[in-house]
Amino acid sequence: MKVNIWKGTILALAGLLAAGAAVAANIEWDTLNPAFRGAMYVNDASVCVGCHEDALTHYGQTGHAQVAKFGKQGSRTPDCEACHGPRSAHVADPDSSLALPALSQAAVCLQCHQGENRIYWKSGRHQAAGLSCASCHTVMEPKSKKSLLSRASESELCYSCHANVRSEMNKSSHHPVREGKLECSSCHQVHGTSNPALLIGATVNETCYSCHQEKRGPFIWEHAPVREDCMTCHEAHGSNNRKLQNSKDSFLCLQCHTYGGHINLPRYNRTSNPYGEGCVNCHVTVHGSNSPSGAKLTR
Ligand code: HEC
Ligand code: HEC
Ligand code: HEC
Ligand code: HEC
Ligand code: HEC
Ligand code: HEC
Ligand code: HEC
Ligand code: HEC
Ligand code: HEC
Ligand code: HEC
Repeated sequence: MKVNIWKGTILALAGLLAAGAAVAANIEWDTLNPAFRGAMYVNDASVCVGCHEDALTHYGQTGHAQVAKFGKQGSRTPDCEACHGPRSAHVADPDSSLALPALSQAAVCLQCHQGENRIYWKSGRHQAAGLSCASCHTVMEPKSKKSLLSRASESELCYSCHANVRSEMNKSSHHPVREGKLECSSCHQVHGTSNPALLIGATVNETCYSCHQEKRGPFIWEHAPVREDCMTCHEAHGSNNRKLQNSKDSFLCLQCHTYGGHINLPRYNRTSNPYGEGCVNCHVTVHGSNSPSGAKLTR
C-alpha cells in the first residue's frame, strides 16, 4: 500500500519548529555536491518510497516521519528531500549518487537544528575532530529510546570512541552513570560549547556545583584548593580510591601539607583504624567550614 502522507511541502512551510529550532534559510545544495546542479524537488515522498520501500520500515517510527505525516502546525516538514536534497536528477537516473561528505551532512541538519544546543556546534571539539551529526545519530532508524542515537544508550555511544572513560567508570568509586542515575550529558554538552572539555558549566567547579551545591559556599573558613579546582583532589569519572579521590587518603593531603607539627605522628596518618580515613577523620570539613571555630577545618 502506497501511503499518500508524504506530500512534500519541503521547506516551504516557514514558522517555528516544535523542537524549538530556529528557522533557517534553505541551503545551496549544489555547493555541497555539484551533482545537485540543475536538480529540482520532486516534492512527493511517495515517489521515493516507490523504490525505497524498506527505507520507510524504521524511518516511519521516527519523530521526523511523524511530523511530516501530521504536518504539525508551524513546523517545517522534514520530508525525504529536506535531508537528501532536490532529487529530480536521481529519480531520472538512480545510479547518480548524491551522497554528501560528513561535514556537509551537518549543514543539512542545521537547516532546522542550528539553535539551542547546537549554537556552538561549529566551534565545538567534536566538529573540529571531523564528526558529523550522523556520527552519533541514525535518523533513518531509531536505535535508542530517545534522540535517534546510533547506539542503544548514550554511554554506549560515547564509549564506542572514548573507551578510556568506560574503564574509568568501572572503577570502585564512580559517578553513577552505570547505575543509570547520570548520563554523560549530565555534565557534557556534546554538541559544542565554549566551556572547557565540552562541560555544561563555564568551569569544572561550576559544573560540579550544579549538583553539589553545598560545596559552593561561601564558607567562613575556605580551603584554598577547593575554590580553585575540584580536580585537584578528585577524578571526574572514576577512581579506585574512595570518594573519587585522585590519590590515597593521607597522600592526598601530604602533596601540599608537608610533615610537621602533629602530622609527623604516625597515628595521625593512619588510613585504617583507629583513625579511619586518616586526615579527614579529624578534618571533617575539608571543603570549607562555617563554624566560627573551624579554622583548622576540624568542625
Ligand atoms: C527509480 C527508483 C528510484 C527512485 C524513484 C528513487 N531512488 Fe533513490 N536510489 C535508487 C537506487 C537504485 C539507488 C542506488 C542503489 C542503492 O544504494 O540502493 C538509490 C540511492 C539513494 C540514496 C543513497 C545514495 C545517495 O545518492 O545519497 C538515497 C539517499 C536515495 N536514493 C534517496 C532517494 C530519494 C529521497 C528519492 C525521492 C526523491 C529517491 N531516492 C528516489 C533508486 C531510486
Ligand atoms: C532528517 C533527515 C532525513 C530524512 C527526513 C530522510 N533521510 Fe534518508 N538518510 C538520512 C541520512 C543522514 C542518511 C545516511 C545514513 C544514516 O546515517 O542513517 C540517510 C540514508 C538514506 C538512504 C541510504 C540508506 C543506506 O542504507 O545507505 C536512503 C535510501 C534514504 N535515506 C532514503 C530516504 C527516504 C526515501 C526518505 C523519506 C521517506 C528519507 N530518506 C528521509 C537523512 C534523512
Ligand atoms: C526540515 C527540518 C529538519 C531537518 C532538515 C532535520 N530535522 Fe531533526 N527534527 C525536526 C523536527 C521538526 C523535529 C521534532 C520532531 C518531533 O516532534 O518529534 C526533529 C527532531 C530531531 C531529533 C529528536 C528526535 C527524538 O526522538 O528525540 C533529533 C535527534 C534530530 N531531529 C536529528 C536530526 C539530524 C541528525 C538531522 C540531519 C540528518 C535532522 N534532524 C534534520 C526537523 C528537522
Ligand atoms: C558526539 C555525539 C553527537 C553528535 C556528533 C551530535 N549529537 Fe545530537 N545528541 C547526542 C546525544 C548524546 C543526545 C541526547 C542528549 C542530549 O540531549 O544532549 C543528542 C540529542 C540531539 C537532539 C535532541 C535534543 C536536543 O538537543 O534538541 C537533536 C535535535 C540533535 N541531537 C541534533 C544533532 C545535530 C543536528 C547534530 C549535528 C550538527 C548532532 N546532533 C550531533 C549526541 C550527538
Ligand atoms: C565517533 C567518535 C566519537 C563519539 C561517538 C563521541 N566522541 Fe567525544 N570525541 C571524539 C574525538 C575524535 C574527540 C577529539 C579528540 C579527543 O579529545 O580525544 C572527542 C572529544 C571529546 C571530549 C573532550 C573535549 C575537550 O575539549 O577535551 C569530550 C568531553 C567528549 N568527546 C565527550 C563525548 C561524549 C559525552 C560522547 C557521547 C555522547 C562522545 N564524546 C561521543 C570522538 C567521539
Ligand atoms: C559528573 C560529571 C561528569 C560526567 C557524568 C561525565 N564526565 Fe566526562 N568529564 C568531566 C569533567 C569535569 C572533565 C574534565 C576533567 C579535567 O579537566 O581533568 C571530563 C572530561 C572528559 C573527557 C576528556 C578527558 C578524558 O578523560 O578523555 C572525555 C572524553 C569525557 N569526559 C567523556 C565522558 C563520557 C563518555 C561520559 C559518560 C560515560 C562522561 N564523560 C561523563 C565530568 C563528567
Ligand atoms: C549532574 C549531577 C552531578 C554533577 C554535575 C556532579 N556530580 Fe558528583 N555525584 C552525583 C551523584 C548522583 C553522585 C552519587 C551520590 C550518591 O550515590 O549518593 C555523586 C557523587 C560524587 C562523589 C562521591 C563519590 C563516592 O564514591 O561516593 C564525589 C566525590 C563527587 N560526586 C564529586 C563531583 C565533582 C568533583 C564534580 C564536578 C566534576 C561532580 N561531582 C559533578 C551527581 C553529580
Ligand atoms: C583538598 C582536596 C579536595 C578538594 C579540592 C575537593 N575535595 Fe571533595 N573530597 C575530598 C575528600 C578528602 C573527600 C572525602 C571526605 C570524607 O571521606 O569525609 C571528599 C569528598 C567529596 C564528596 C563526597 C562526600 C561529601 O562531602 O559529599 C563530594 C560530593 C565532593 N568531595 C565534591 C567536591 C567538589 C564539588 C569539589 C570542588 C568544589 C571538591 N570536592 C574539592 C577532598 C577534596
Ligand atoms: C593542592 C594543595 C592542597 C591540598 C591537596 C590540600 N590542601 Fe589543605 N590547604 C592548602 C592551602 C593552600 C591552604 C591554606 C594555607 C594557608 O592559608 O596558610 C590549606 C589549608 C588547610 C588547613 C588549615 C590550615 C591553617 O593553617 O589554617 C587544613 C587543616 C588543611 N588545609 C587540611 C588539609 C587536608 C586534611 C587535606 C587533604 C584532604 C588537604 N588540606 C589537602 C592546600 C592544600
Ligand atoms: C586526630 C585528629 C587529627 C588527625 C588524624 C589529623 N589532624 Fe590535622 N589537626 C588536628 C587538630 C585538632 C588541629 C588543630 C591544631 C591546633 O589548632 O593547634 C590540626 C591542624 C592541622 C593543620 C594546620 C597547621 C597546624 O599545624 O596547626 C594542618 C595543615 C593539618 N592539621 C593537616 C593534617 C593532615 C594533612 C593530616 C593527615 C596526614 C591531619 N592533619 C591529620 C587534628 C588532626
